Amino acid sequence: MKILENKFDLGFLPTPLHKLKNLSDKYEDYNIYIKRDDQTGLASGGNKTRKLEYLIQEAIDNGCDTIITGGAQQSNHCRQTAAACSVAGLQCHLMLGGDGPETPNGNLLLSNLLGAKIYFAAEDRKGEGMELLKEELMVKGKKPIIIPYGGSSSNGAMGYVNATKELKDQLKELDITIDYIFFASSSGGTLAGFILGKELFGLTSELIPINIDKTEIQGLSLEEKILDIVNDGKKMLNLKKEYSLRDINLIRGYDKTGYGVIGQNEKEAIKELAVNEGILLDPVYSGRAFYGLMDFLKNKKVPVESNILFYHTGGLPANFAYANYLV
Ligand SMILES: Cc1ncc(COP(=O)(O)O)c(C=O)c1O
Repeated sequence: MKILENKFDLGFLPTPLHKLKNLSDKYEDYNIYIKRDDQTGLASGGNKTRKLEYLIQEAIDNGCDTIITGGAQQSNHCRQTAAACSVAGLQCHLMLGGDGPETPNGNLLLSNLLGAKIYFAAEDRKGEGMELLKEELMVKGKKPIIIPYGGSSSNGAMGYVNATKELKDQLKELDITIDYIFFASSSGGTLAGFILGKELFGLTSELIPINIDKTEIQGLSLEEKILDIVNDGKKMLNLKKEYSLRDINLIRGYDKTGYGVIGQNEKEAIKELAVNEGILLDPVYSGRAFYGLMDFLKNKKVPVESNILFYHTGGLPANFAYANYLV
């Protein structure tokens, strides 16, 4: 499909898909697999790389020379955007939450090393000041484009439409079917892409998006925001299916402590995958999502004998910034 081909190559794709043999033995009623988007390759990888392939191409198609985006101080999205800008020869401006520590660490350190211009926006961690910055840069003769918080626009979501095709092809090749796909969902572009990709490519697995952040975006609930992205995306893909809020089934049970608050659950999940499989999660997103998976399996919230896929969305660098909470 033409629209899916209009992208700027950034990722090491396809990412590996393999069985978690030790954990499948431990949780003996289930077969557990993992898809490694922590290995997308762009400055330590993660799910935003796939979105950025489309978002960077959009910037280039619009003749832009500068990218503005925003997020939390430990934003994986911002770190990968900084790296993508380096590859594409674009200037990168990041509006981050907080006040900026004396010594940057984790994703913030990497965004610095990748050459991004960084602004600190105190309580605003969703890029609230980006329009103003855009005007200032235009006055200076730049041609900026704003990438929305989390890279979650319909165009960014095409990264996960494409990922659904990649996954479907891999499952065919391995001759397995997956009943449930667990993953971390926050600004929602990943979920929106999977919803559209499932329809476009006929993937039958059920999505289990573990919600990370309980706050709203631009006055909309996350479900409303994600539905908007899905409805825009379906037009781009010429899909006929009608979507409603009932199709956006965020699992909200694990977000109670709030965004970026690392508790016992996240710690337990990170240790479980690390000591059993040698794979590292992150404390904000994939750690919380993997805890959700463990809870579902321990408490048989999905039928026994199911084939389970954990879709690893990356985030490794944040572990360094949260070290005090993890050991
Ligand atoms: C590691 C990681 N996993 C999952 C997500 C959530 O993806 P989305 O914002 O597309 O819902 C993010 C977003 O920042 C992330 O950094």
